[in-house]
Amino acid sequence: MKIEKFPFGMTKYGEDVYKFSLSNKKKTRLEIINYGASIISFILEDQDGNCKDIVLGYDKLIDYEKGEKYFGATIGRYANRIKDSQFQLNGKTYKLNPNEGKNQLHGGNRGFQKRVWDYEIKDESIIFKYISEDGEEGYPGTCTLEVEYSLNDEDEVHINYTGSSDKDTLLNPTSHSYFNLDGHDRVGILDHYLEIDANYYLPKDGEGIPLGEVRSVKDTPFDFRKSKKINTIFQSNDEEKNNEEIKESKGIDHNFCLNSGDLGNSYFDEEKVFEEKIVKLAASIYNSHKTLKLLCYTDLPGLQVYTGNFIQGERGKYGVIYSDYSGIALEPQFYPNSINEENFQSPILKAGETFTSTTIYKLIKKI
Ligand code: GLA
Repeated sequence: MKIEKFPFGMTKYGEDVYKFSLSNKKKTRLEIINYGASIISFILEDQDGNCKDIVLGYDKLIDYEKGEKYFGATIGRYANRIKDSQFQLNGKTYKLNPNEGKNQLHGGNRGFQKRVWDYEIKDESIIFKYISEDGEEGYPGTCTLEVEYSLNDEDEVHINYTGSSDKDTLLNPTSHSYFNLDGHDRVGILDHYLEIDANYYLPKDGEGIPLGEVRSVKDTPFDFRKSKKINTIFQSNDEEKNNEEIKESKGIDHNFCLNSGDLGNSYFDEEKVFEEKIVKLAASIYNSHKTLKLLCYTDLPGLQVYTGNFIQGERGKYGVIYSDYSGIALEPQFYPNSINEENFQSPILKAGETFTSTTIYKLIKKI
């Protein structure tokens, strides 16, 4: 793997930002900036030698600074929502900065995705590092997160997270790329096929907060145990209330309870999932022409699937105006609001302990 570094711009605070280009023998290229440790391009060559970029993104740093869609970003400290922007830890109530109504989404107003990260180029990877101050966005403890990216010759992007803190805190990072396997500038992903290894999903309220119930996907639009086209969610004849959930979100924006976590009636088998930390296939997508497949692996219990339901009008790379459903995000994480749900495994990081997690996105051409 080759890694090259290019200037990408300067933030409004005067910090230099660089673009790092990782390429492999197949001429696949992954581009990441140290602003938000964000993936900005994922470019591959098709059988005719044409290049296509399969992730949504912006042209300029200023768009990343202003953007609110989290294109390609590393999310932290806590991916997804925390109800009422508060939680209890060790008997103390912590108040977080709300940024979506009264709730907090994706770590607050200036989460990890809006920060400049340090970087270290290794032989076969690049490591980004961010030190989040004690009290930042309301979270306790100085928390350090390292995110290591690599791209091997099998077209696998490995993302390794390593975190620590000097006080007990929460850490639930994820990766927020929106994929479109036909190319970021093509019509949306509704004709892509999606498969998710999840027998259960989390129904949620109107603010995107899980109700606390783990519900079977059987006979609902959320049943992706066998690969099916994403647009079938809008054509479903299933129970009215399930269709209402799709309508309310304008698509999928739900957490799936991955089977690798032995989920179900017992919710999870904590020891097995979190001590063995097995990285397993969580989901896959492929395009309607079946020329490209993307597999997503994780060792975390949940997968937030977001079909890009509110990205209409966002001006992206090369001036392309994205539409709703231009891309799909597959975000491995702990369940949303898990810190406030006693039946969900919570992402508590104890002082002095080390958090590790791995996500892999693997491409397969001409399936
Ligand atoms: C996640 C959330 C969505 C939305 C996107 C970012 O996927 O679940 O509701 O906030 O991030 O736009």
